[in-house]
Amino acid sequence: MISIKDKVFVPYITANSLQQRVAEIGAEISRDFKGDCPVLIGVLNGSFVFLSDLAKSISIPIEVSFVKVSSYSGTNSTGEVKNLLGLDIELNNRSVIIVEDIIDTGLSMKHLLEMVQRKNPKKLAVATLLLKPEALTHPLKVSYIGFEIPNKFVVGYGMDFDGLGRNLPELYQLK
Ligand code: IMP
Ligand code: MG
Repeated sequence: MISIKDKVFVPYITANSLQQRVAEIGAEISRDFKGDCPVLIGVLNGSFVFLSDLAKSISIPIEVSFVKVSSYSGTNSTGEVKNLLGLDIELNNRSVIIVEDIIDTGLSMKHLLEMVQRKNPKKLAVATLLLKPEALTHPLKVSYIGFEIPNKFVVGYGMDFDGLGRNLPELYQLK
């Protein structure tokens, strides 16, 4: 068990299982986009760890860029998405994969999909390490999902509770 501020978290998914699943997704993306050079767009801050491991497990040429949005405060969704760092790259006729740490209500991803779609990509896919199906209020097509998890708050592997816990190599769940 670990404590972050006033909350207690219990081990949930080991670093090994995360690595293994990420490698599988990397292999899938390499197959699906063979002959292409997709742009991976990481959603800051949470996706930096997943994106880093995922990028290294992809064997075709890729480009990497980042956007930053925020919909969360503490352990709750605020219901609105703030654009904190925009999309400054050309995506016209490019294949794009948006890379998220976790899809909860789906609000952030819906917003991001609309934002990228306006730049006329030829192909647009979503890769998320985690998805909480019970929390999803904005239905989305997600091509690559690491794990479907119950509607409980998690930290580690890039994900935070009030800014902390991102550096944990494994995933923890709120007790
Ligand atoms: P959504 O817009 O409700 O789908 O929220 C997505 C964003 O909220 C994610 O990219 C995370 O940054 C954050 N988030 C959602 N659930 C969790 C969680 O369990 N732990 C940490 N961050 C979370
Ligand atoms: Mg995020």
